[in-house]
Amino acid sequence: MIILSIETSCDETAVSIVRATGDFPHATYEVLGNALFSQIDIHREFGGVFPAVAKREHAKTLVPMLERALEESKLEYHPSSLSESKTALLEEILYREPGLTEALLTFLGKQGTPAIDLIAVTSGPGLEPALWVGINFAKALAVAWDISLAPINHMEGHIFSSLFDGERFGPLKFPALALLISGGHTELVLMRDWCQYELVGQTRDDAVGEAFDKVARTLGLPYPGGPEVSKLAEAGRSDGLVPSLTLPRPMLATESCDFSFSGIKTAVLTAVKKAEEQGVPLEKTAPEVALDFENAVTEVLIAKTKRAMDLHDVQTVILGGGVSANTNIRRAFRELFETEYQDRALYLPEPKFTTDNAVMIALAAHARFSVLKEDAVDETRSFRADGNLSLHS
Ligand code: KG4
Ligand code: ZN
Repeated sequence: MIILSIETSCDETAVSIVRATGDFPHATYEVLGNALFSQIDIHREFGGVFPAVAKREHAKTLVPMLERALEESKLEYHPSSLSESKTALLEEILYREPGLTEALLTFLGKQGTPAIDLIAVTSGPGLEPALWVGINFAKALAVAWDISLAPINHMEGHIFSSLFDGERFGPLKFPALALLISGGHTELVLMRDWCQYELVGQTRDDAVGEAFDKVARTLGLPYPGGPEVSKLAEAGRSDGLVPSLTLPRPMLATESCDFSFSGIKTAVLTAVKKAEEQGVPLEKTAPEVALDFENAVTEVLIAKTKRAMDLHDVQTVILGGGVSANTNIRRAFRELFETEYQDRALYLPEPKFTTDNAVMIALAAHARFSVLKEDAVDETRSFRADGNLSLHS
């Protein structure tokens, strides 16, 4: 089965072509084409991602990414041409994006239909204007090529991305628990079987990545702040820096598996202001704030994951989302499994699979298509972008 996948939920425009051979969950996967444009340099100027800017960039970049992924993949083409009725339908689907419509029609006029069995696209969660461009683009391709279309949850993509070693999925013992930590999400999701999700904990306010980004701003670090805060904290740690402040570790003592990060973020702001008033320069305060902030976040993530593991007899833990690139969090989870949970499995995504990409959307699509069959696809192509799409129904 060959899957073409599209991801535009935030600031990455990505198109991949993945070939699955064999049956899920034992299939092997070959990434035939993988094109990704990161808008980070554009958003850095504004200090964050503005949905309208992200959407505009996706619209400009989708056809070039599709072209590149297809070129890389060396797929075969069946001869075909666009009928007038199909062209009209395609124009209707993309009516909000005249530039994209024109680029796509030009591209489609150049060649036939590639040997693709399924198109998959992120339908949420994420920035709705950004999601819509990718969805409408995918719908237009599905019409042009007469191929089934599967809407995919971005967070499910992160889960499969973590299980993927570059060729296949690792074995999964249920119940499994996914700790999903990204710019928009912090949640503990229980899986009793493939593609079945139950929310057992979530943030009551900020997502971890959001807290990292806000703390970075307070410390005068550029966007995206997570990696910057982490770099500063790691440097302090290896220099033996002992922070003179202790930030709160919110909700550690509560029974619930929920999180809260806005208190730590506010405490960071207060600490920085206080130091400034005392004449301490930000360059001096920043490393210890970054270090204790990262320690606080890590402690809370570990404690809540342990609680959920014990409550639900969890056999496997899967870390996913952009923040799972964090060195300290990865180290703490490895240590936890080496010391307290030697009989359980831990999946950490390979660093190159922590950031948003389209391969993860193709992997999730193959899993869903294998498990849910035709329920995984939307033959009416009527699904919508959902910025708050959740994994659990
Ligand atoms: O999953 P992702 O790429 O996009 C969303 O779906 O949100 O996650 C992006 C988030 C950002 O908040 C970014 O600052 C954070 O992940 N992040 C990190 C690190 N790398 C990325 N946070 C902490 N440490 C890192 N090394
Ligand atoms: Zn993501």
